[in-house]
Amino acid sequence: MNDLSATVVDIRKLWTVFKSADGEVVVHRDLDLRIERGEVLSLVGGSGTGKTVLLRQILGLEKPTKGTVEVLGRAPGELSAKGAANVGMLFQHGALFSAFSVLENIAFPLRELKLLPDELIRNAALVKLQMVGLEPRHANMSPADLSGGMIKRVALARALIMDPPLLLLDEPTAGLDPEASDSFCDLLRGLHRELGLTVVMVTHDLDTLFDLSTRIAVLADHKVIVSGSAREVIAYPHPFIHEYFLGGRGQRALEALHDKPAKAPPPSAGAAH
Ligand SMILES: Nc1ncnc2c1ncn2[C@@H]1O[C@H](COP(=O)(O)OP(=O)(O)OP(=O)(O)O)[C@@H](O)[C@H]1O
Ligand SMILES: [Mg+2]
Repeated sequence: MNDLSATVVDIRKLWTVFKSADGEVVVHRDLDLRIERGEVLSLVGGSGTGKTVLLRQILGLEKPTKGTVEVLGRAPGELSAKGAANVGMLFQHGALFSAFSVLENIAFPLRELKLLPDELIRNAALVKLQMVGLEPRHANMSPADLSGGMIKRVALARALIMDPPLLLLDEPTAGLDPEASDSFCDLLRGLHRELGLTVVMVTHDLDTLFDLSTRIAVLADHKVIVSGSAREVIAYPHPFIHEYFLGGRGQRALEALHDKPAKAPPPSAGAAH
């Protein structure tokens, strides 16, 4: 029943506290965030503000100290294998298994479940390989032979292998050159639309942020201080926002945003790449 509701992620009064040598570190304090079906919600915040930890909580890898995190109406930790099917994650430093081929990497989560015969798993992985813009000839390659952009695509295919309705992306374009970054954004935009995904993304890259987000949430002072359109967020008076969006780097990205025509199909099929 809950699967039909519009709210995909519901975080209420979340506290995350880690014990350290000097006492306790409060990462999140009374953090509230609700994410509706079909959104591309981007989380921005300074380094160490708890963005990755929040994604890990949505995935069920980390438990709240206090408060609740629900995905499709349930606590992600309670879901085990079913939970893994609901949420796919592209990890911030998500290296592939170097001893496995591209196809074995993509198939890994499905193989771990031990529910399906090898042939079906292989076919499912081949479908995902093509879905992320790679070709069957890449299937047997080793991760060491791939470009940075291709590694991200394989990791994305692995995150999508169980057809999750919710996809978490931690710095999806970090380390990619501008061209690879643009092309990965195009892929993500297409998949979001075609698969009807809900996406939660962490990014420091303003081009990626403005390119893909349907809503931006800012993490500061241990909580989400504001969420809304780029315009709404930038208008919110807070030192972090001022520095982040209105510093030199932010100004350049904003100008590029204003200069850029709205995303439209290429003028002809031949000009697509
Ligand atoms: N398992 C853990 N035990 C103790 N402290 C942790 C743990 N995981 C994260 N932290 C701390 O929680 C804080 C938030 O970490 P997190 O990785 O979520 O930051 P972030 O916002 O993703 O930063 P970045 O932008 O640099 O990736 C940091 O101070 C980190 O050291
Ligand atoms: Mg992080």
